[in-house]
Amino acid sequence: MIILVDFGGQTAHLISRRIRELGIECTALDPEESLQKIKELKPKGIIFSGGPASVYEKSSPTVDKKTFDLQVPILGICYGEQLITYLLGGKVKPGKKEYGPATLIINKSSKLLKGIPENSKVWMSHGDEVEGLPKGFVNNGKTQTIPHAAISNEKKKIYAIQFHPEVIHTEFGMEILENFIKICGLKIKKRIINREFIENIIQDIKDSIGGDKAICALSGGVDSAVAAALVREAIGENLQSIYIDSGLMRDGDAVNMRNVKIIDAGNQFLKALKGVSDPEEKRKIIGKAFIEVFETVAKKSGAKFLVQGTIYPDVIESAGSKHSQVIKSHHNVGGLPKEMSLTLVEPLRNFYKDEVRQIGKILGLPESITQRQPFPGPGLAVRIIGEVTERKLEILRKADKILQEELRDYQDSLWQAFTVFTSIKTTGIRGDNRAYGETIAIRAIEAKDAMSANFAKLSYTILDKISTRIVNEVPQVNRVVYDITNKPPATMEWE
Ligand code: XMP
Repeated sequence: MIILVDFGGQTAHLISRRIRELGIECTALDPEESLQKIKELKPKGIIFSGGPASVYEKSSPTVDKKTFDLQVPILGICYGEQLITYLLGGKVKPGKKEYGPATLIINKSSKLLKGIPENSKVWMSHGDEVEGLPKGFVNNGKTQTIPHAAISNEKKKIYAIQFHPEVIHTEFGMEILENFIKICGLKIKKRIINREFIENIIQDIKDSIGGDKAICALSGGVDSAVAAALVREAIGENLQSIYIDSGLMRDGDAVNMRNVKIIDAGNQFLKALKGVSDPEEKRKIIGKAFIEVFETVAKKSGAKFLVQGTIYPDVIESAGSKHSQVIKSHHNVGGLPKEMSLTLVEPLRNFYKDEVRQIGKILGLPESITQRQPFPGPGLAVRIIGEVTERKLEILRKADKILQEELRDYQDSLWQAFTVFTSIKTTGIRGDNRAYGETIAIRAIEAKDAMSANFAKLSYTILDKISTRIVNEVPQVNRVVYDITNKPPATMEWE
């Protein structure tokens, strides 16, 4: 097993994912408890993740120096490199903030960099940088901006890099992690999602629910559909699937649901959201309203469990580890109230969207479900900036329908495409009259998983068509803008 000491970097969980993809178990620990736990768990290797802190800050997370005496190979990534340097007597200094691609230039290879070309693309995200090496360390590589992009003490099997091998933009990131696994003396066995793997998940669900009843709220999206399909295989008729129409759904969403009980709770949600404009507050109110409906339904049927399609990025962005920051409270994790009478079953909590789709495919779900674009649990409420009202919902639904119609042929290449009600009014002209109308933003993104994304380079012709149709067919709108921001720094949804 490999231990990941999590210093709160936004991509720290990706490190565990990559290690697990290599067939190696990976457990994340908070720095404070790590030495004790490492002694108990006896891992074959330790990875220090990145993190937002600076080693010189008083409250910055750290590890016990004795960790370096355990004779277990260590790999420090980003903040991990800085911490190793600092704790072992080297120098770290505030550098120029660097975010994005860089070229790693190897000047002296190491076991960690074995097989990596002299020049390769890496991904950077840091403020501080290493200035002076600790005793016993050598420099292995630099970039155009920093001299110590890779350092090592081969004798002690301690390696450290400033860039992030876990993100796909680092060209040979996976090879570097594989090299580390080999340094740890472990054999690589890539994880495969097949029927046998799924049978194990189903058995786990059977064990946790037993003979009790469960309810599952389908949202129309892929995650809840796959979660429900797994639980149905596990407990059969003891699962009741429902669809809650929160009033925050898109045009036609409810119509697409078949064989499920539809609960109309639109008024309840809108009443609870009245006068609220803070995004996090809105998310929490919606989470609470969902639970109230679930609990009413469960009371009637005697269900004790609530199945949710929570996936790994939801967990992370709702602050999965002690030193990471809350980006937003995804409604099926951070947005749920603490006191609930139902016990949560979240069979997809450890998986990424692409894996969820794969599981759905193996379970025999149709492509119309497995390849469907994600739709957030809080619905259109997070696509309306500020207070949610019936009027705004109506305008947004009309604009979104047009967008979906025009982008029908592009669906496969896009992670998501949707419209946003910006709540910004601007001056326009209609006929010979001045108009003061709404601004709709279009967001179309390409992504492999929910952690990072690029805006789609849609052609001007298609953007022109969408914009013209929206301003013509939705009279309250007189301006359409295209969101050209990647994630990070912008999240996919606007709220
Ligand atoms: P963000 O906006 O966090 O979105 O970059 C990443 C992906 O997650 C979806 N999303 C949600 N899904 N509950 C969900 O089930 C939520 O509260 C939620 N918020 C965002 C979003 O649509 C995107 O695909």
